[in-house]
Amino acid sequence: MIKCVYPGSFDPITSGHLDIICRAAAMFDDVTVAVLVNKNKKPAFTAEQRMDFIRRGTANMPGVKVDSFSGLLVDYMREKRANLVIRGLRAISDFEYEFQMAAMNAKLAKNIETIFLMTDISHSFLSSSMVKELAYHGGDITGLVPDAIKEDVIQLYDR
Ligand code: PNS
Repeated sequence: MIKCVYPGSFDPITSGHLDIICRAAAMFDDVTVAVLVNKNKKPAFTAEQRMDFIRRGTANMPGVKVDSFSGLLVDYMREKRANLVIRGLRAISDFEYEFQMAAMNAKLAKNIETIFLMTDISHSFLSSSMVKELAYHGGDITGLVPDAIKEDVIQLYDR
């Protein structure tokens, strides 16, 4: 049985993330979206909010689980008895970081594989940071995040 984890900061989840989750769920029966709780980073949204946003975004995907983790991804994977990491790849610029991370995870845990799903071309420019910047300046984020969370993201910068 393949148990997948799609890890990330998801600050907040974007339509690009959602597309990866949807496609992963179509391929694998057991998919967990795992939100990193990193005490050294100051996310715009709390871990609880980020998890809630993912739950709302994936409400029509009943098989998808949402969780959080801190520390090393491989330790979380071992604890959950998961064996496959899923990551999305947008552009060449993502490749070096992703390659480094997959190689380090493979060194730390031999039985854990990473697979990459190419981000849909319509989302290749999209990132959580871009969404936040757009929202900060009052730009339209329709279609860039799941509809269910759009207002929450706008409200973050509603002054
Ligand atoms: O959405 P992001 O910020 O690109 O996700 C990065 C994430 C959370 C997948 C990565 O930073 C991670 O796995 N962090 C946990 C610590 C870890 O295991 N790092 C990789 C080996 S050093």
